[in-house]
Amino acid sequence: MSVIKIRRLRAEDYPELVHLWLRAGLSFKPKGRDSHEAVTKQMEENPDFFLGAFHDGRLIGAVIVSSDMRKGWINRLAVHPDYRRRGVAKALVAEAEKVLRQKGIRIFCALVENSNLASKRLFKACGYVEHRNIVYFSKRDSDEV
Ligand SMILES: CC(C)(COP(=O)(O)OP(=O)(O)OC[C@H]1O[C@@H](n2cnc3c(N)ncnc32)[C@H](O)[C@@H]1OP(=O)(O)O)[C@@H](O)C(=O)NCCC(=O)NCCS
Repeated sequence: MSVIKIRRLRAEDYPELVHLWLRAGLSFKPKGRDSHEAVTKQMEENPDFFLGAFHDGRLIGAVIVSSDMRKGWINRLAVHPDYRRRGVAKALVAEAEKVLRQKGIRIFCALVENSNLASKRLFKACGYVEHRNIVYFSKRDSDEV
């Protein structure tokens, strides 16, 4: 089997990225922050924050990095079901941390649904500590954002 390569995602990868999210079972906000327009803008502003894992030119894994300047966040980690348990997510998390370290970030975080055992185990395997005493609060201008 040929090698899996990680590279920055570009605007033209958007259709494949959406396909991967849906195939991986991630939620998708087509009118909000996941719209073509929104993602293209985010990519333009932070070209190194969108990473994809490719096998034979096909997108089989992806992650979106974000930074609030104090901490770095690992978002939307997704691996195609046919490529799981091969270390793709681990490699994407390592690459995401590398991008954040280059920006001076030293704390890496992820929000994971409590029922998502695969993701919780993955982050533990990557050295992340689970904080059971923290509850996530958010406020949204609409359900679509
Ligand atoms: C979670 C997810 C990204 C993991 O991707 P992956 O490429 O299969 O993960 P890796 O192969 O890098 O796994 C590395 C380690 O994480 C742990 N792990 C990953 N998936 C696991 C699972 N289903 N069950 C138990 N442990 C798991 C294991 O320790 C694994 O090492 P091992 O295979 O040597 O035992 C993938 O299952 C996925 O896309 N899920 C749906 C989308 C999702 O929930 N994303 C996370 C949002 S926070």
